[in-house]
Amino acid sequence: MDALKRQAAARALEHVQDGMKLGLGTGSTAKHFVDLLGEKVAKGMRVICVPTSEATRAQAQACGVPLTTLDEIDHLDLTVDGADECDGALNLIKGGGGALLREKIVAAASDRMIVIADDSKWVDVLGRFPLPVEVIPFGLAATQRAIMSAFAQSGVSGQMEVRKAKDGHVFVTDGGHWIVDAHLGKIPDAPRLAGLLSVIPGVVEHGLFIGLARTAVLAGAQGIRVVERR
Ligand code: A5P
Repeated sequence: MDALKRQAAARALEHVQDGMKLGLGTGSTAKHFVDLLGEKVAKGMRVICVPTSEATRAQAQACGVPLTTLDEIDHLDLTVDGADECDGALNLIKGGGGALLREKIVAAASDRMIVIADDSKWVDVLGRFPLPVEVIPFGLAATQRAIMSAFAQSGVSGQMEVRKAKDGHVFVTDGGHWIVDAHLGKIPDAPRLAGLLSVIPGVVEHGLFIGLARTAVLAGAQGIRVVERR
């Protein structure tokens, strides 16, 4: 599986040109991309990058990849990031690693987003992977009731739980927020659910990435498949 992730990352790297401003994703697949980009930089490629998490920032620094922020540059040419699920419209579930907020800010500031994944992430309908919703701790129960109502309005239901870290404490995002993971099974109308979640005051961001990815690079046992959004 890790070899497939690296193959997808390597293919996405072919889209990187000298002088580009890049968004760097988070997770085990994006980690390969940063690694391979570091090798290019060591050989003289000039890029400037915005990381989507503190973990990616640390890795990029260790690889010698030059970093900046979205305060210093006005847009990014390309973001390359992983996903937890990707459907045929290239709508995604992201946030399994907890970096969804910065990932979405960076993707939205990019001219183009390429998703890299092994082909187990490709699904007919989003929702098998629990949907991460980043929330403000204040008023959590009220926010959860509003989330439940959004689920009902978009025809989905399921259990929600506050994400815990490995040590058993509540998982805290880079932004200082919490994450609620919703086990929905299937999300037949992801754009509608995304819209409903976005207007809930206690929701900082959710893991539905609608209309952001333009290209998916999926690596499987049979080779690499590149899917462009229609
Ligand atoms: C991080 O918050 C996520 O959005 C990741 O991009 C996603 O979980 C994919 O991670 P892997 O590449 O590790 O599967």
